[in-house]
Amino acid sequence: MSRIAYVNGRYQPWRDATVHVEDRGYQFADGVYEVCEVRGGRMVDERRHMARLERSLGALHMAMPMSPAALGVVMRETIRRNRVVNGIAYLQVTRGVARRDHAFPPSGTAPAVVITARAIDGAGNVAMAEKGIGVVTVPDNRWGRVDIKSIALLPNVLAKQTAREQGAREAWFVGRDGKVTEGSSSNAWIVTADGKVVTRAADSAILRGITRDVLIRVISAQGLAFEERPFAVAEALAAREAFLTSATQIVMPVVRINGKAVGEGKPGPVARALRQAFHRHAEWS
Ligand code: PDD
Repeated sequence: MSRIAYVNGRYQPWRDATVHVEDRGYQFADGVYEVCEVRGGRMVDERRHMARLERSLGALHMAMPMSPAALGVVMRETIRRNRVVNGIAYLQVTRGVARRDHAFPPSGTAPAVVITARAIDGAGNVAMAEKGIGVVTVPDNRWGRVDIKSIALLPNVLAKQTAREQGAREAWFVGRDGKVTEGSSSNAWIVTADGKVVTRAADSAILRGITRDVLIRVISAQGLAFEERPFAVAEALAAREAFLTSATQIVMPVVRINGKAVGEGKPGPVARALRQAFHRHAEWS
């Protein structure tokens, strides 16, 4: 659990860490976030996460609340105060506190910045990767700008809950065209029968995962064939392997889709090798 949270300039005990009832994040989901992996006490791919944060804020017509370097200092301090060695750092920026009105508040309204950090069960994650996970598919009923890492995650919350209720770990969103877009909190991948690693191009139908970007470099370094294109559920079921990527799961083999086995129904060599190699290609700070 996060013991200390950073809230608008102050480090506070977790139970006292609160934001105002009229924070626009609370009322309108008017904000964005980042989740960064912490490994060995260091942040993984901080620079890329900061760049994506700046892009998401820009899409909301918001400026960075402080420089990327200063945010990095605060994130590291939050990680240190929570004594997180392996886990995640969470950063959220909202448009701040103002009387409720849909339009933007007066200029000069200070953004609200919250940072938390907590350990994750590394051994549990490794055990899960050894076995692989199941996913279920759900209709993609999200808005048209899921490329923004917005805190408005209701469809994702409902999709993840559907997965859990069906004994699966993740839900894959499927568009009207029958093609998989991405997971509720991860990007989706397959390895085709002829050995090509496939994931959807980073258009406005998916969040451009940092793990996804780094993994594309790993794939190239390993000399694997790679294709950026959408794939249908049937193609994923006929694939040799499937997996997902995120800052919390890195590369997680998917061995069942809607209860049906993918490939041999166990983690495959490509996902395994990519997971092994990932952190050699990531940036550390
Ligand atoms: N989720 N797609 C969605 C919808 C996501 O929420 C995430 C990350 C990703 C993968 O992005 P990255 O590789 O940068 O973590 C893709 C985070 C982990 C979360 O919401 O907890």
